Amino acid sequence: MKTQLTLRVNGAPRDVPLSFVGRRLLDTLRLELGLMGVKEGCGEGDCGACTVLIDGEPMCSCLLLTGVVEKCEITTIEGLPAAFLTRFSAICAEYGAVQCGYCTPGIAVMAAWLHAGGTELGDQPISKLFAGNLCRCTGYQQIIEALTALR
Ligand code: FES
Ligand code: FES
Repeated sequence: MKTQLTLRVNGAPRDVPLSFVGRRLLDTLRLELGLMGVKEGCGEGDCGACTVLIDGEPMCSCLLLTGVVEKCEITTIEGLPAAFLTRFSAICAEYGAVQCGYCTPGIAVMAAWLHAGGTELGDQPISKLFAGNLCRCTGYQQIIEALTALR
């Protein structure tokens, strides 16, 4: 009898107890797999703090049940390419785009998606593309400037 669910996370197979099948992907990533870069803000799909890539597309992990993404490639901020994260960090520091940092992992995942080519939506203004990533600290201008420089 099957007792585990095997997910594909950041390029590697990860086993989680079958009991997580009906839990939010956000909880599975944080509580079971220890991927604490995935943040919980609203828990309702509004803030973007929990953004991960599912088969290369950004999605809110608070809205996904773990069992639904069993066959998908899941990428968290921990799985983004080191070279991208180094550049992202440097540009955020240069433009003052990080204060408390709680929103930053979700923004980094979105930025990585955009950097990798995004979709046809990728031509939209940065302010529109990142409208789903809320930040309580920076006032957004520095984030938009940093993401524009990264583009
Ligand atoms: S915690 Fe998922 S969108 Fe806010
Ligand atoms: S830097 Fe604090 S929420 Fe964005």
